[in-house]
Amino acid sequence: MKRIIITGATSGIGRELAIQLATAGNKVGLIGRRAEKLESLQKEIGERAFIKPLDVTDLEYAEKVYKELIDEMGGLDMVILNAGVGVDKILSPWKADKLTIEVNVLAFAHGLHFTFDYFRRQGYGHIVGMSSVASHLASYKAAVYTASKHFISNYMTGFRQKAKRVDADITITDIKPGFVKSEMTENVRGMFWVAETDKAVRQMIKAINKKRKIVYITKRWRLIGIVARLMPQFVWDRI
Ligand SMILES: NC(=O)c1ccc[n+]([C@@H]2O[C@H](COP(=O)([O-])OP(=O)(O)OC[C@H]3O[C@@H](n4cnc5c(N)ncnc54)[C@H](OP(=O)(O)O)[C@@H]3O)[C@@H](O)[C@H]2O)c1
Repeated sequence: MKRIIITGATSGIGRELAIQLATAGNKVGLIGRRAEKLESLQKEIGERAFIKPLDVTDLEYAEKVYKELIDEMGGLDMVILNAGVGVDKILSPWKADKLTIEVNVLAFAHGLHFTFDYFRRQGYGHIVGMSSVASHLASYKAAVYTASKHFISNYMTGFRQKAKRVDADITITDIKPGFVKSEMTENVRGMFWVAETDKAVRQMIKAINKKRKIVYITKRWRLIGIVARLMPQFVWDRI
């Protein structure tokens, strides 16, 4: 049994991670802004679920909430930093970019810092971050989203190096999904190789259990990851 905090657990990938990890016998500490969704998820999962409504961009309050969840679960073995926003078409372009940076970059970095310090003091722990295949791309259609996911992957690589230099057994897993069914992808057009949420999450959990460093979800997206890294920028600029 592991004690696992999952951010962004109210829908999509995070919700399915909560269900599958709790079904496997783990305690899950669930975070998201929508309290009613957390409550119904807790009812569905039962006593292994611990819930805290939280906007992860409220950094000071977030730290308090992480500590409360850790106390309630009796400790922490793993965190899954999954909360994220996609391309926002309602806000003005700058407000949309700012929000993405606040959630996907700032709150992510804060969660990683907090848990890394906690695990360093404890002597062990596992940090899982939800990046994307988009971390390898730059796109005029989603400049801030792709940049934010590049930050997440790059940041985790740095922390993985840092983990080797501290006196603690800390694993860092970078998950790079392609397209997965969720609220975020509900109205996105032009998607391909779209994975069912439960299948994608089964593959994620398998990789997490194996303590993999980087994993593409579903597996075939590794190909796109390779192509994205090898393709010259001038070719991307024309796509
Ligand atoms: N679906 C895909 O194809 C895909 C591909 C690559 C990467 N990803 C990544 O996977 C992660 C999960 O996304 P998803 O596809 O499952 O989309 P989703 O269904 O929209 O889930 C996003 C989750 O993040 C939470 N969240 C957003 N802003 C938050 C905030 N300020 N504070 C706390 N929680 C917040 C949402 O909860 P509340 O709204 O209740 O706060 C929700 O639970 C994201 O990081 C996304 O970038 C998804």
